[in-house]
Amino acid sequence: MIDFDKILKEAQEELNNITSIIDLNTFFQTYLGKAGKVTELMKLMKEIPNEEKKNFGLAVNNLKQTISQNIEDKEKFFAEKKIQDSINNTKLIDLTVPTNKKIKGSLHPITIVQEKVINIFLSMGFTVEDGNEIETEYNNFEAVNVPKNHPARDMQDTFYLDNGQVLKTHTSAAQNRIMKKYGAPLKAIFPGRCFRNEELDASHENTFFQIEGMMIDKNVSISNLIYFMKEMLTQVFGKEIQVRLRPGFFPFVEPGFELDISCPYCNGKGCRVCKQGGWIELCPCGMIHPNVLKMGGINPDEYQGFAFGLGFSRLAMMNYDITEIRLLNSGNITALSQAKIK
Ligand code: DAH
Repeated sequence: MIDFDKILKEAQEELNNITSIIDLNTFFQTYLGKAGKVTELMKLMKEIPNEEKKNFGLAVNNLKQTISQNIEDKEKFFAEKKIQDSINNTKLIDLTVPTNKKIKGSLHPITIVQEKVINIFLSMGFTVEDGNEIETEYNNFEAVNVPKNHPARDMQDTFYLDNGQVLKTHTSAAQNRIMKKYGAPLKAIFPGRCFRNEELDASHENTFFQIEGMMIDKNVSISNLIYFMKEMLTQVFGKEIQVRLRPGFFPFVEPGFELDISCPYCNGKGCRVCKQGGWIELCPCGMIHPNVLKMGGINPDEYQGFAFGLGFSRLAMMNYDITEIRLLNSGNITALSQAKIK
């Protein structure tokens, strides 16, 4: 007589000792595989006398099902254990613990705007030049039509060095050098750091950035000035910008203008920034004064040109929604990297 209970008991004891899925597979083969113990029992069916066949069949089937079920349960147990183990091995993170935050640096807003403007002018055929930060008094003033003792000098409160040179008060100081270097025709821009002895407030700093541009050729007119400025500003702000000119006085241009742009915040409709007017004063410019051309070695009867001096600090502030100019030189990474990129 075959003792089914004994076989089951042995199988279950064996199963209890199994600790890996590999051993479980071996166990499956041992009992239910092709030559497994239960499979072999089933093969005996043929030899069992007819009257015992029914009971034998029931018993073998029962054995097979119970062992199958036990294997399945064990499999489930392993799967759950695997998940539980991985949870137990994961280090819990306390999201409330203050972090040791390292502030990432970024390009300075002035640098970003400068690169943007330079690339636009490069694409329009302009050369990029460097200006000196320490300049001769001649280049900073006389060469741009501001003679000694001229009242126009009062417009710029200047830092003089002991040797008589100055910290350049505007990028226009490079005009003369550039005209002498290239002669006419020329198309150049020259960004740079400028210095003035200013009373500091939210919009005045002793150190600020400008970008100057000059185009000199035959038959250059105010239309060329308007075209290039509109094109550049439209690209900087990423939307159509309208420009308008109002008369303005600068000794180095004749006629001189203040260039206004349609307010990029409200598209000219009127808002707090443009004080409801729809326009913002952005950049002085004009047709280069014949005296300035002459001093640069260019014949004003043959050539004309336009020039502009764009306040870069101002442009960066407008582009990045910075309301306080002193932040630009502050080195305050938190504030500077918060500048909202448009
Ligand atoms: N250099 C002037 C300043 O800083 C700005 C300026 C005005 C530059 C008119 C120009 C110009 O080229 O045409 O105040």
